[in-house]
Amino acid sequence: MAQQEDVFKKIISHCKEYGFVFPSSDIYDGLGAVYDYGQNGVELKNNIKQYWWQSMVLLHENIVGIDAAIFMHPTTWKASGHVDAFNDPLIDNRDSKKRYRADVLIEDQLAKYDEKIDKEIAKAAKKYGDNFDEVQFRATNPRVLEHTQKRDALHERFAKALNDGNLEELRQIILDEEIVCPISGTRNWTEVRQFNLMFSTEMGSTADGASKIYLRPETAQGIFVNYLNVQKTGRMKLPFGIAQIGKAFRNEIVARQFIFRMREFEQMEMQFFVKPGTELQWFDTWKQTRMKWHQNLGFGAENYRFHDHDKLAHYANAATDIEFHMPFGFKEVEGIHSRTNFDLSQHSKYSGKKIEYFDPETNESYIPYVIETSIGVDRMFLSIMCHSYEEEQLPDGQTRTVLHLPAALAPVKLAVFPLTKKDGLPEKAQEIIRDLRFHFNCKYEEKDQIGKRYRRMDAIGCPYCVTVDQQTLQDNTVTLRDRDTMEQHRVNIADLQGIIEEKVSITTLLKNLQ
Ligand code: GAP
Repeated sequence: MAQQEDVFKKIISHCKEYGFVFPSSDIYDGLGAVYDYGQNGVELKNNIKQYWWQSMVLLHENIVGIDAAIFMHPTTWKASGHVDAFNDPLIDNRDSKKRYRADVLIEDQLAKYDEKIDKEIAKAAKKYGDNFDEVQFRATNPRVLEHTQKRDALHERFAKALNDGNLEELRQIILDEEIVCPISGTRNWTEVRQFNLMFSTEMGSTADGASKIYLRPETAQGIFVNYLNVQKTGRMKLPFGIAQIGKAFRNEIVARQFIFRMREFEQMEMQFFVKPGTELQWFDTWKQTRMKWHQNLGFGAENYRFHDHDKLAHYANAATDIEFHMPFGFKEVEGIHSRTNFDLSQHSKYSGKKIEYFDPETNESYIPYVIETSIGVDRMFLSIMCHSYEEEQLPDGQTRTVLHLPAALAPVKLAVFPLTKKDGLPEKAQEIIRDLRFHFNCKYEEKDQIGKRYRRMDAIGCPYCVTVDQQTLQDNTVTLRDRDTMEQHRVNIADLQGIIEEKVSITTLLKNLQ
């Protein structure tokens, strides 16, 4: 675990050193849980967004996009329930004066039982080799059984406390499990209190009687309030979806783990409107579709899992998370929720407008049900970084730091180096870039020896490097180096576009989804 934490710290430093992510307002020592994306980060982030957007809007004839404003009429948040119920249960440690989310402390405790079970299994698997039967071991090993029993009992108690909104019981669980504050190491806990996560500001000057408005805590409501506009103007027939990418804001109290939990972040959400009664079928379809989208990046199916919710919001009739194996355990990257007709009904009630769909097949009018897929761009970014980062031991005893980013998401696709700064080599290298820059992101580098330049490109995950040398001037060939294998071979300049474009284009990723 300590080793994993170490790796995570290295990833955070790497993000800063190579222009991926900087603390916000860095020269003023940063702002808690707010981050800026640098020159490489913004490219990677844009590619993630493009992969998502195109998989939704290009690949589905019945999904269209919108871009709603961040500021919304304040009644929106009353109707959606956020003003009254968008709360986190908080607890303070009296000795360290640190504040925690009570539910997160308990979730971490559950993860500790899982780790203990995994450790026993890994130990036994090593000992028994091919003869190891994991199912039997789980069912019979006394230590595994004891941890499993404790875990399940805690899980059940925790789920009940959450469902009942029982804050006293949450505190009691923390005491009974002997959970200590990671800073002070003590169990001197306060009561658990609810805290609303929405940021607010004022619109208009105070003299006109300014009104309090909120920074949206999710992009979804921008879609719900536009349901009628899009359905009517797009002549959309059920089932259909509306997709959106945009910023969301939450006053997270326990902001930690770098860009995993931020106060300003970005969501990619899609609301899929369906006929009532068909929603659970669509929920399953979207679960599979979204898992396929993740696994298509090639990070290995074993690094993903579904986590069904213990506590269903009162308006939801199914909910699951897609979790990814981060260095700090399996964590939520995307939520998929069957939200019934709650949001549209509430907006209809609060706005006084009829929000219905006339079904030409059955001649009925009804409020559609909704399946929502909601993924955080920043969490997706973090999962990609964590999986791609490697300190690779090379055969010559050296190490290199390399980001094995999926080529289609890499910020720079091709780096072109003149071997030396003379004899017309820089001009030839620039000429190659001039032709290829229309097709993908290229970078020119002439400083330092070639070996150092390769390392710099490995560190930003650039999948291909081309070196221009004396032979290039004679026969128009260059050496093309592959980031992952480090193999080099000579190719004609005229063939570069064809070889590289197919590997680095988002279209290739999208085609694999079909
Ligand atoms: N509209 C549904 C909704 O907002 P959510 O589970 O609260 O659901 C969806 O958020 C996704 O947004 C999460 O799976 C996560 O990827 C991302 N997300 C939520 N809060 C975040 C935060 N504070 N920082 C970064 N990403 C966050």
